[in-house]
Amino acid sequence: MDKKALVVGNWKMELSHKSAVEVFSAMKKMVSGKELDVELVVCPSYPSLAAIASGSNGTTISAGAQNIHHEERGAHTGKVSVVQIREFASWCIIGHSEVREAEGDTDLVIAHKAKLLLQHGITPIICIGESAQDHDSGNTIATISLQVDVLLSALDRVSLLKTAIAYEPIWAIGTGVVPEPDEVFEVVLLIRKKIAERFDQELAERIRILYGGSVTADTASRYIAGPGADGVLVGGASIHPRDFLAIAETVGAAYAR
Ligand code: PGA
Repeated sequence: MDKKALVVGNWKMELSHKSAVEVFSAMKKMVSGKELDVELVVCPSYPSLAAIASGSNGTTISAGAQNIHHEERGAHTGKVSVVQIREFASWCIIGHSEVREAEGDTDLVIAHKAKLLLQHGITPIICIGESAQDHDSGNTIATISLQVDVLLSALDRVSLLKTAIAYEPIWAIGTGVVPEPDEVFEVVLLIRKKIAERFDQELAERIRILYGGSVTADTASRYIAGPGADGVLVGGASIHPRDFLAIAETVGAAYAR
């Protein structure tokens, strides 16, 4: 199989620039000379993106951003556009629930951001996921279906082929409360089924689907084995080099399908 597992670290707003550079250099040391069977991406805050990107040259870790504005340029104080990150980021998280909540990004806006990123050669990592209320009232599948339907109507086959989708149940983010593997498998299968119905089986199998939400080295592989995800999106644990690399190792081993 030509698909490699993908492990993405979302550093959020947790690190000063100095700490971000230190964490990255510790990670670089830990991966050097190692045969890790995963693709590794870290997403620092904007002020550290250029430094991490230049530090990533010649390593097996790539740099990504955590979001972009939905326009390419303009009078948007405090915002950052795709044009401003394209020299530094090869990946970009969009649709994270924290951004959806703070900025009101809808699935349509997120699909638009995905197109912008792809036009500029950046791989989007599109986050979707249901709230605790949706989960508790048995509406997970209905919620995910709606989110996926919007994405699949807005993006064409070629775009989807270059996109990763991260399933992040909102109630699992930063809480330590994790879903059962079966719950994740059901969502992963649903996404693949919808892609196969609208496009084809090949795309459904090739697209990378990640799990995210309180991932640790102890839990990561549960979501990968069998009909599971193609990798993980890691928040809290990703700013600790040892933990992040331990997650990468366990995911790589579990993904050997
Ligand atoms: P967490 O965050 O691993 O700290 O739960 C995941 C995310 O927000 O992407």
